[in-house]
Amino acid sequence: MTISLVVLASGRGSNFEAILKAIEAKTCDARVLALVSDKADAKALQIAYAYKIPVQIIEKKDFTGPLAFDEKLLAAIDSYSPDLVVLAGYMRLLRSPKIFAAYEGRIINIHPSLLPKFPGAHAQADAFYAGEKISGLTIHVVDESLDGGPVIYSEKVDISDCKSADEVSEKILAREHIAYPRIIDEIAKGHCKQVALRRR
Ligand code: GAR
Repeated sequence: MTISLVVLASGRGSNFEAILKAIEAKTCDARVLALVSDKADAKALQIAYAYKIPVQIIEKKDFTGPLAFDEKLLAAIDSYSPDLVVLAGYMRLLRSPKIFAAYEGRIINIHPSLLPKFPGAHAQADAFYAGEKISGLTIHVVDESLDGGPVIYSEKVDISDCKSADEVSEKILAREHIAYPRIIDEIAKGHCKQVALRRR
């Protein structure tokens, strides 16, 4: 079954682009209904425009608190009725219980470490400066915690040869671009028990 996605991104959008390329190459059985970004200058928006994907920008500065922000976000997501919400470098914690009530088990995230090690926004640098030889990536169902929730897939990456945190990021990112579209395809095929898709 082709699954429909709303993608949330805050920045560069290389994972978003990897998903779009895999869909084009027919290795990921999905379609992207929209990109929602919390940053008006996110590079991910340019990728959406190039692929003619509808865009919504919802910026924090326009709201008084995280719950009001998340309710606007939920309305934006709801307007597309996606099967799955895909966080691709979305750097805000989802806080509204209404989002989890509406999309429980249907929000996924990719994170550049072997969770539960190194959650947060600087996972690759944290692993590098901790002297880790092996780090990796994790794809998980999103819950209320920071980079928490049931793990769908994790992959080790040998970072022992990396000379900087940037090198660690690059090495892990290359694997993210392969893993994320592949796991979305596995979800479409109904192979991921952690994800509770609604059958239409
Ligand atoms: C990726 O490395 C992703 O795993 C990470 O942000 C980067 C986004 O890159 N996400 C997190 O750290 C979530 N806590 P991209 O915008 O090029 O896809």
